[in-house]
Amino acid sequence: MNPDTNGSPLSTNRHLLRWVEKMVELCKPDAVHWVDGSQEEYDGLCKLMVASGTATKLNEKHWPGCHYVRSDPSDVARVEDRTFICSLSKDGAGPTNNWVDPYEMRKKLKALFAGCMRGRTLYVLPFSMGPIGSPIAQIGVELTDSPYVVVNMRIMARIGLPVFQEIDKGEKRVVPCMHSVGAPLAKGQKDVAWPCNKEKYIVHFPETREIWSFGSGYGGNALLGKKCFALRIASNMARDEGWMAEHMLILGVEDPHGEKTYVAAAFPSACGKTNFAMLIPPTHFKRQGWKIWTVGDDIAWIKPDANGRLRAINPEAGFFGVAPGTSQSTNPNAMAALSKNTIFTNVALTPDGGVWWEGMSDQPAECLDWQGNHWTPEIALQTGAKAAHPNARFTAPAAQCPTIDPAWEDPNGVPISAIIFGGRRATTMPLVYQAFNWSGGVYMGATMGSEMTAAAAGTIGKVRRDPMAMLPFCGYHMGDYFRHWIKMQRTLSETPRVFHVNWFRKDDNGKFIWPGFGDNMRILRWIVDRTRGRSTAKETPIGWQPHYGDIDWVGLDFPREQFEALQKVDRVAWRAEVMGHEELFLDLHDHLPPEMVYERELLICRM
Ligand code: OXD
Ligand code: MN
Repeated sequence: MNPDTNGSPLSTNRHLLRWVEKMVELCKPDAVHWVDGSQEEYDGLCKLMVASGTATKLNEKHWPGCHYVRSDPSDVARVEDRTFICSLSKDGAGPTNNWVDPYEMRKKLKALFAGCMRGRTLYVLPFSMGPIGSPIAQIGVELTDSPYVVVNMRIMARIGLPVFQEIDKGEKRVVPCMHSVGAPLAKGQKDVAWPCNKEKYIVHFPETREIWSFGSGYGGNALLGKKCFALRIASNMARDEGWMAEHMLILGVEDPHGEKTYVAAAFPSACGKTNFAMLIPPTHFKRQGWKIWTVGDDIAWIKPDANGRLRAINPEAGFFGVAPGTSQSTNPNAMAALSKNTIFTNVALTPDGGVWWEGMSDQPAECLDWQGNHWTPEIALQTGAKAAHPNARFTAPAAQCPTIDPAWEDPNGVPISAIIFGGRRATTMPLVYQAFNWSGGVYMGATMGSEMTAAAAGTIGKVRRDPMAMLPFCGYHMGDYFRHWIKMQRTLSETPRVFHVNWFRKDDNGKFIWPGFGDNMRILRWIVDRTRGRSTAKETPIGWQPHYGDIDWVGLDFPREQFEALQKVDRVAWRAEVMGHEELFLDLHDHLPPEMVYERELLICRM
């Protein structure tokens, strides 16, 4: 007998109820829990996870409301090789996505999900990506057998009863999201702390707007509102409906007159988006009255308004940030955001019931590392063992960030005046330059490259092309995605200005040339001034670059020669760079918009 679904708070949406019943029939959970999103429910689920050994409650005095979780060592990051876009045709997904025939995949998933929740509770988790009721927001329902997913989603999205009410209005389509850790329990079998399955499938059906995720409990594989919905499925919706679902942070720059300029920025995973979104200006800027406001750190949904201006919302409600490297000096705003009511995953546990990670503060004398092993600085010296996994995360409420923008939940979004692209590049790419125009900007984003990081399984350090930082997240053919970007201009009365930054260029000794962090404000100020027509620039073969004198250097000793080394456009290196663009374009050739070819030709001519 299946557990009944009588507890449903849905009053009118019979269709959704039928779907839940069908999925219960398929997955065979022991119980069904309709998530109301309350604090009591959250506390109860945390208690449940503490009792089962999944979570540890942290020292309440120093880390109020915080919990600590260790994942299975085989389940620590997004699995791009196990992520599939099962569009009706292979061509629809394009060469940058894994594709399997949707008919075959459905058969496979049906077999995997059959009885996969035995011994567990199925949670019916309604969520809104974006403020509930916002015309830009979208709704999903995740069915999951992971309480860890429910508590994380309560921080990352708007969930629970108000979303059920929104669903009952029947005005918005609901994206069904199936998730199982894929670890059914036999009668009397004791659960492990982090159940998961060796076999993993993160599957998207773009035409029917469905997500099926099996085998992993970690981050973007399991919190389905984030990468799966807000980027892969939403990019399909956005193409069809004339808006943009982008892997971008959103921040507001307030000048000394109180005038705000909002920019969106796309950097690949683990390239400092969270730090940039919460930037603290250098003292001199602060004294003058410059302020940075945070709207979002990972995803932007951008739509033209009735006047043809792009407006953006952050569809998320929390930060799922990379912990290592986050500290009072690199990102005090993130440290304040994560100081309470936060879930830490795969960091280290200190003897006093606190957490630690590399780069957070001085090393503790001892701790338990992310795998629960005894760790000391001496052991680290001898073995190289890290206390925290490089992709260890904090899940923190966005509202706790001291620089959260007063308009971050504005249902109509904030106006976007500039778009910034950036990668992690040791060579070739200058600190900053501006595209000549929109199509040049699209080319700039399309040809973005970055050295790989620990956010995804893969070879760390290798440069890969990551167009608009969307390579792992674009839910359809990348060539068509570029075409959509080009097409967007036609609906706009004003296009955002487009820039490229690289904080990571190194000198001949392998040392970073640019100090980064707060000093990025100097570059951001030039970007805002350009956007508002207040600063000059010089024309170079790749775009507009600031003169040395266009940047405010007060408080930083950064000689002209150093700036010129950082801004250098090396023609030999750029030759190789353009060949790299060509390689990507060859893969996409039959869907590539002609503008990309023209832009490349112009670039070659200027070189
Ligand atoms: C993320 C990612 O977690 O991009 O934001 O991997
Ligand atoms: Mn991301």
